[in-house]
Amino acid sequence: MSVPFKVLLIGSNSQLGRCIKDRAPDNWCLITMTSSQLDITNQQQCRQVIDRYHPDAIINTAAYTAVDNAESDEHQAFLVNAQGVKNLALACNIDNIRLVHISTDYVFDGTAKQPYQTTDTPNPISVYGRSKLAGELLVLAHCAQSQIIRTSWLYSEYGHNFMKTMIRLAEEGRGEVKVVDDQIGCPTYAGNLAQAIIGLLKKPINNRLLHYCDSEIMSWSDFAKAVFSYRQQKGQAYCTVSPVSSSEYPTPVKRPAYSVLQSGFDIENKVSLSSVLDKM
Ligand SMILES: NC(=O)c1ccc[n+]([C@@H]2O[C@H](COP(=O)([O-])OP(=O)(O)OC[C@H]3O[C@@H](n4cnc5c(N)ncnc54)[C@H](OP(=O)(O)O)[C@@H]3O)[C@@H](O)[C@H]2O)c1
Repeated sequence: MSVPFKVLLIGSNSQLGRCIKDRAPDNWCLITMTSSQLDITNQQQCRQVIDRYHPDAIINTAAYTAVDNAESDEHQAFLVNAQGVKNLALACNIDNIRLVHISTDYVFDGTAKQPYQTTDTPNPISVYGRSKLAGELLVLAHCAQSQIIRTSWLYSEYGHNFMKTMIRLAEEGRGEVKVVDDQIGCPTYAGNLAQAIIGLLKKPINNRLLHYCDSEIMSWSDFAKAVFSYRQQKGQAYCTVSPVSSSEYPTPVKRPAYSVLQSGFDIENKVSLSSVLDKM
């Protein structure tokens, strides 16, 4: 019998973490850590947990992800997304443990006209983006066996995300919703990203910085329309979408206008938005 591949999943209640749990291969021994079991901002706890389990690999999905709140909560955003990530990187490096860390399209400023490559220079325009970029640099500096995967616009059946907000608004009977049409990106099903991470861990480390996103490029209002059009076909509650500009929908933070990532690799049997909607 072959020895199982021991993986420590950090931030296991995140939407991505829950998708990884659902798809963990049979030959994995998966150990999951919620924020109450491991607070990554606690350096000593990071060391203790990694010493106790001594995994073959760690996947870090834990993050401060409240993009708007981060503007007024910079200290906490950096504590989790930079210092917390450094704690993990240092602890992994001591025992040469492989670390897969997740980052974001928001490290870019959104002024590009074509998909961002991993070689493009980041220039975040928000506290969240700056804190995630700081985390990336700390991972690369402090953990030799590390890989960073940037992704974008995650949605899933779990947690809080745009697709679920649209479904809630439809079910609440909102006839019409205003959605911005001047921010362009690639909605990415967290289950597909989970598959991509699982695939990555089967291979040796070739690249330390990768991009993964699903292939359809659209605005938030196109995304909302896709959700509602599928629900309408299925006879479920839906809304009509009024496209608005970002200036008509002010938020505490400016978001990149164009945050399409050039995906560096693909997966087999990619799950579509309609299949996810069928599960809801
Ligand atoms: N969501 C997106 O659209 C998006 C886009 C691009 C990149 N990403 C990145 O993808 C990754 C996963 O995102 P997601 O949307 O799946 O995340 P999520 O659902 O927002 O969950 C984040 C998780 O991080 C945990 N966490 C927060 N602070 C922690 C701490 N100090 N110690 C340990 N755990 C902590 C939270 O635990 P509690 O629930 O207990 O607080 C939560 O379960 C993140 O790195 C995120 O930056 C997300």
